[in-house]
Amino acid sequence: MRIGVFDSGIGGLSTLIACLRYLPEAHFLFYGDTAHSPYGDKSPEQVRQWTEAAYEWFIQAEVDAVVLACNTATSAAVSPIREYADVPVIGIEPAIKKALTLYPEGKILLLATTMTVAGAKLEQLLAQLPDARQRVMPLACPGLAERIESQGADWQQQVRQYLHRQVLPACTADIQAIVLGCTHYCWIRDLSSGLAGRAIPTLDGNDGVARQLCRRLDIPLQTDVCPELPGAASIDFHFTAEAAAKTQVARQLLAAHGIRTQSS
Ligand code: DGL
Repeated sequence: MRIGVFDSGIGGLSTLIACLRYLPEAHFLFYGDTAHSPYGDKSPEQVRQWTEAAYEWFIQAEVDAVVLACNTATSAAVSPIREYADVPVIGIEPAIKKALTLYPEGKILLLATTMTVAGAKLEQLLAQLPDARQRVMPLACPGLAERIESQGADWQQQVRQYLHRQVLPACTADIQAIVLGCTHYCWIRDLSSGLAGRAIPTLDGNDGVARQLCRRLDIPLQTDVCPELPGAASIDFHFTAEAAAKTQVARQLLAAHGIRTQSS
C-alpha cells in the first residue's frame, strides 16, 4: 500500500508518524513543498494550486490515498480536490471538537496560521460546535512555522522568544487547553505546553487523521488505544527545495522517535 503525505515542509512528518502507528507496513511518499513554504501567509488560491500540483504528483506515483498533513492546505484545497479525486483525500483540521469535549470548562486557545484562522473552513467548524464561538480563542501565529521549519542552530531559542512575545499574553488563567492547529507546531509541543508556567494540555489532529485514513482504506481499527511506533519505516522523501538538507532533517526527526527510515 502506498500513502502520499503532503505539507509545506517538515510539519507533516508529525502526521506521518501518527499514520505509521496504524500502518507500519505501508510505503509512504512524503512531499514537502519547501519551494513555497511557509503557506500560512500566502493566498488561498496559491496554496490551492500548489496542493493540486502535489496531488497530481502523488497520482503519478500511484498512491492509494493522499493525506493533506497541513491545516492550511486543507483549509484552502481539500474541498476542490475532493471534487475530482480518484483516491481518498484525508485532510487535517484543528482538534477543537476533542478539546471542547475533554475540557468542558473554560477556554481553548487555538494556534494556527493566518490563513487557517481566517478561512471559511474554521468558521464552519466553529459554527457546528455548541459554545465554540464563546470558548475557542483563535490566534494567528505568522512567522512561527518558518522558525520551526528552519531547524537552524538557534531555532528553539527563536521559537521561545516568539512564544513569549506573541502567545504568552493569550495564555490567560482561563485557558484550559491549547489546540495546535498547524502541523509544524507539533514539534514545539513542550515549549507551548509549559509557556504559562503551568502545564497546559496540548492537542493536535494527527491521531484522528490516521484513524480516518484507515477507515477510508477499509482497514479495521483493532483497538481504541493508539498503537506503538514501529522501529523502521519505508519512506521516500520529495522536497521541492533544499531536498538533500530537508531529507536529512526529516530522517533525524524520525530517528528521534526511534524510527529508522529506508527508501524504495
Ligand atoms: N504545516 C502547515 C499547517 O499545518 C503550514 C505551515 C506553513 O507553511 O505556514 O498549517
